[in-house]
Amino acid sequence: MAPSKWDVEDPEGAALEAAAKAAVRASLAKRRRIEKEQREAARAPAAPAAPAAPAGRAETAADSGASPSKDSLAPSSRATESPQANRAVSVAQSHYAHAPIQGCRSVRIFDKLNRIEEGSYGIVIRAKNRDTGEIVALKQLKLEKEKEGFPITSLREIYTLMEARHPNIVELKEMVVGDTLSQVYLVMEFVEHDLKTLLSTMRTPFLHSEVKTLMIQILSAVELLHSRWIIHRDLKTSNLLMNNRGQIKLADFGLARMFGDPLGKMTSLVVTLWYRAPELLLGSPEYDTAVDLWSVGCIFAELLLREPLFPGKNEADQLSRIYCLLGAPDDTIWPGYSVLPNAKSAPKTPRKSTLAHKLRDCSPATLDLLNGLLTYDPSQRLSATAALAHPYFSEAPPPAHPDTFGSFPSAAAGERRQRTSPSAPSRRGGRRNL
Ligand SMILES: Nc1ncnc2c1ncn2[C@@H]1O[C@H](COP(=O)(O)OP(=O)(O)OP(=O)(O)O)[C@@H](O)[C@H]1O
Ligand SMILES: [Mg+2]
Repeated sequence: MAPSKWDVEDPEGAALEAAAKAAVRASLAKRRRIEKEQREAARAPAAPAAPAAPAGRAETAADSGASPSKDSLAPSSRATESPQANRAVSVAQSHYAHAPIQGCRSVRIFDKLNRIEEGSYGIVIRAKNRDTGEIVALKQLKLEKEKEGFPITSLREIYTLMEARHPNIVELKEMVVGDTLSQVYLVMEFVEHDLKTLLSTMRTPFLHSEVKTLMIQILSAVELLHSRWIIHRDLKTSNLLMNNRGQIKLADFGLARMFGDPLGKMTSLVVTLWYRAPELLLGSPEYDTAVDLWSVGCIFAELLLREPLFPGKNEADQLSRIYCLLGAPDDTIWPGYSVLPNAKSAPKTPRKSTLAHKLRDCSPATLDLLNGLLTYDPSQRLSATAALAHPYFSEAPPPAHPDTFGSFPSAAAGERRQRTSPSAPSRRGGRRNL
C-alpha cells in the first residue's frame, strides 16, 4: 500500500493524521445525514418555504442560488453548446466539480474587495460576506504545484490556528473551497494593519507606554502557544497584525508546528533570517520554544528603534551582526557553544555588548528585558511567562490602554504593498523534518 500523504515519522504527524481521519469520518456521517434528509424532503409534498441549509454544509453554485458577480472569487461555470457537455456541467454542478471537501462552504459566499498581499505561501484577499456584510481576510493556500496531496505545512497552519484561540491570535473563522481541489481558503477576521507596514508609515514612533502594551499582547499570545505545545517559528513584525483598537493579532502559522517531549527532529531552516535565533544559525540539532523568544526580542528592539535590529543579508552576515552588537558567545555563557556545527566558522568578535549604547534612551529595566530575550544560551533565555513577569511591565509609564492608540490609515484596505524585507524560509525543502 502506498504511504499516506501525511506520513511523517513523528508523533505529531500521527496525531494530525488521526485528527484528520476523525474529521473526515464525522463529515461523512454528516454528509450521509444531509443526503438522507434531502431524499426525504424530495419525497415529501412541496413545503411552503425552503428550509435553511444546514449549518456547515458544503455549498455548490447550484444550491447557493447566487450567480457570481464579476468580483466573485470562484470562476463561473459556463454552459457550453454541446448537450453532452451541458449534461457534464450540470452533473459537475450538482455533484461538485471535485470530490466534496466535507463541511466547507463555497468561497462564492464572498465578494472580493482587494488583494492585501501575496506572501510566499498564499495570497491574502480582503473580502465581504454577501449575506452578512462582514469583512474578512481570505488566505488562499498555494496548492497548485502540490504533487503529494494536501501539504502537511498547510495542515499544520490550519490545525495550530484552530488550537490557538486567544484574543491576541488572529481568529480562523472557517475554511472555504473553490471549484477545484487547489482552491482552499482560510477565512480569518480582517485586521487593518501589520506592524511592519505600520512602523514604516507612521509619522511618530510608538510611545514607551504603547510599546509596553504591544509587548504584553505579543508575549501573551506566545505564552498561550507554548502552553499548547506549539512553536510559531516565524515571528516577525509582518506577521503581527494590529487593528484600529490597538489589539495585536498574531498571524501566519505557516511554519508553526506542535512539538513534544522529547523534542524530536525538526528542520533548522525556520524563522525569517532577521529574526532567527543563534542556535538555528549555528546549526544546533535541537531547538525549542526559545527560538520564538529570540524573535520577540528582535521585535521588541524594532518597536523601540523603528528599524530591524539585525537586518542580515545572509546567514553569515546575520551571525556577524548579532555578534557585533551583543559580543561573541563562548562556552562560559553558553555551555556547549563551541561544539555546535557552525561554531568553528563563526565570526571572532570581542565579547563586549554595545546594546546599551544602541538603546541609550531606554530605561535599565527595558534593557534588562531585552537582554533576557536576546540571551545566547536558549536554556537561559527568558520564557514568555517569565518575560511577562519582568519589572519592565510594572515600572512607569504604565501600559497604554489599547483604546488610546488611535487609528491609522489601513494599507490592507487599500492598495497592494511592496515587500522590502526577506521572506520566510522555504517550506518545501526537508519537509519530513519540518
Ligand atoms: N487576517 C488578516 N487581516 C488583514 N491582513 C492580513 C491578514 N492575514 C494576513 N494579512 C496580511 O497578509 C500578509 C501575508 O499574510 P501571511 O503572513 O499569513 O502569508 P504568508 O504567505 O504566509 O506570508 P510570508 O511571506 O510571511 O510567509 C501579512 O503580512 C498581512 O499584511
Ligand atoms: Mg507572513
